[in-house]
Amino acid sequence: MSSLKSNFAGIKSPNPFWLASAPPTNSGYQVMRAFDKGWGGAVWKTLGVPIINTSSRYGAVNYRDKRMVGFNNIELISDRPLSDNLRDIEEVKKYFPEHAVIGSLMVETKQQWHQIIKDVENAGVDGIELNFGCPHGMCERGMGSAVGQEPNVLTQIVSWVMETAKVPVIVKLTPNVSHIEEPAIAAKRGGANAVSLINTIQSIVGVDIDNFVPYPVVDGKSTNGGYCGPAVKPIAMNMVKNVAKIPGYNLPISGIGGIENWRDAVEFILLGATNVQVCTAVMHYGFGIIREILAGFEQYMDEKNFSTVDEMIGKALPNILHWEELNLNYKVIAKIEESKCIGCQLCYIACEDGAHQAIGLPGNPDSRIPHIIEENCVGCNLCSIVCPVENCISMVRKDENKKIINWQERTAQGNIPVTFDDKLAGGVGHYIPEPKEAIAYRLK
Ligand SMILES: Cc1cc2nc3c(=O)[nH]c(=O)nc-3n(C[C@H](O)[C@H](O)[C@H](O)COP(=O)(O)O)c2cc1C
Repeated sequence: MSSLKSNFAGIKSPNPFWLASAPPTNSGYQVMRAFDKGWGGAVWKTLGVPIINTSSRYGAVNYRDKRMVGFNNIELISDRPLSDNLRDIEEVKKYFPEHAVIGSLMVETKQQWHQIIKDVENAGVDGIELNFGCPHGMCERGMGSAVGQEPNVLTQIVSWVMETAKVPVIVKLTPNVSHIEEPAIAAKRGGANAVSLINTIQSIVGVDIDNFVPYPVVDGKSTNGGYCGPAVKPIAMNMVKNVAKIPGYNLPISGIGGIENWRDAVEFILLGATNVQVCTAVMHYGFGIIREILAGFEQYMDEKNFSTVDEMIGKALPNILHWEELNLNYKVIAKIEESKCIGCQLCYIACEDGAHQAIGLPGNPDSRIPHIIEENCVGCNLCSIVCPVENCISMVRKDENKKIINWQERTAQGNIPVTFDDKLAGGVGHYIPEPKEAIAYRLK
């Protein structure tokens, strides 16, 4: 029997599914309802010096019949008095002592950090999350992502926090940086116990083209917001993987960004997250989605013989290589299952105009079923991706298990041009430089 019990940097919860800091964790009323429904923890809506929020404040990207594929907000931190939030936290912990309540915090001065940490600890939080990610409103005042984008400042503030914090400290990272490893390492340098990522991505989700103003509209004007929801999941997963692969990093990672169901949660954990947090999906569908997440996740664990969540952490990481290490002898080509084909010919159009002219139309005017031109097919997957019928186009292996050969070996054979100096590479086949290193070498 699998166990969903979670221990994230010393913070225990009945399962690894937490609500992210956002409107669903605005109040004790909401957090208690969420725990009742099955959520394992909640990161409280960020606390600091209360602010005034705008009306309106959200925007969304819809795609066909799917609403809120991407979600955008210009909301700041909690607009409730700190004393109300502290009272609510205390009450939640009284009724739900086994669940994790995390105080998300964002203030400016060292004195304010020390004071608010004492306040939330006295209220009974199990951990603290430092919001160094909000990319709108607070960053203009030198907080939120302004801190997350400056590794030295981040380290400094984390070390202030560590001077007083008695509970585990999680640093929430902004994705609005070019190398997520830098703030992640800065958090560790400051003494943090864990990191969480991602916060929202700076964005504009649309423009009212009649009135020339982006959404959301505030009295005829707008501002950039923070993007989240299913659209950001691939970016978030890549960043989680990048942090998890930092050699010797070893801090637990809370994965956030576009998680809607059990499968999303599994993916984040396989990429190195110890637990996950959810915001947009709850704002869209409500706390009740946890029921399916729990059931699906447990079933997956049973099917794969995982008895604890920890056994799953990072299982996909060994299969993520540098591009240069991939097997260039591996070859697949497309195969169309004629009995499933509806003759829409989308695969033909995509391949003809956007890829490798590897799909032909039937000569027979009575048929609409295309065929693969094997000698042109590079196995790029495009046709199977655009095909509207599930399992109609599959990719079939054709390399007959030739010897595995990677880019450096092919380069050494002389049939691929060398794109960076062998001196830097320390001898072909031995060393793969990081992109930054390769560029720096070239600029010398
Ligand atoms: C309306 C809204 C308000 C948010 N407020 C906060 C906040 O106060 N503190 C914080 O750390 N993150 C805040 N976030 C970011 C979320 O916690 C989360 O990092 C982000 O939305 C990505 O997760 P998701 O794709 O599941 O929404 C907010 C997000 C939304 C949509």
